[in-house]
Amino acid sequence: MIFRKLIIAAVLGLGLAAQAVAQETPVQVMKTSTCGCCVAWMEHLNKNGFVTHGHDMLHEALIRYKTDKGVPEEISSCHTANVDGYIVEGHVPAVDIRRLLKERPDAIGIGVPGMPLGSPGMDFGGRNQAFDVFLIKSDGTTEVFSSHPAK
Ligand code: CU
Ligand code: CU
Repeated sequence: MIFRKLIIAAVLGLGLAAQAVAQETPVQVMKTSTCGCCVAWMEHLNKNGFVTHGHDMLHEALIRYKTDKGVPEEISSCHTANVDGYIVEGHVPAVDIRRLLKERPDAIGIGVPGMPLGSPGMDFGGRNQAFDVFLIKSDGTTEVFSSHPAK
């Protein structure tokens, strides 16, 4: 009988722990060890309430990861993140990740191709350019998810 109560308490405890994990929305970031702008982007997410975990890998392994996850070559950037089952490629602003998780479209994820100056983690000396975030649909095609004007 006491045993049974302990087991029930343990199961309830695990349930609560799982809920807490879901609430902090961890972001798994696949990147190379020397990527400074990747870390700068992670800091942008941390400042905006996300919990980031960096995973260093060799360049070839990172490319393979992108291919395996269905990131189109024309969208690819320096890092590939996994957020709650969605792929987030490149210097995507936190606000777009929030929207992705809220709207939950039937898609692979979102991405910013290349590394536009002025995007989060790419702020160098005030230089900036307009950029789009693309939705990567399940069939591999893309469409504009949001547009960010030059600051
Ligand atoms: Cu970068
Ligand atoms: Cu990066």
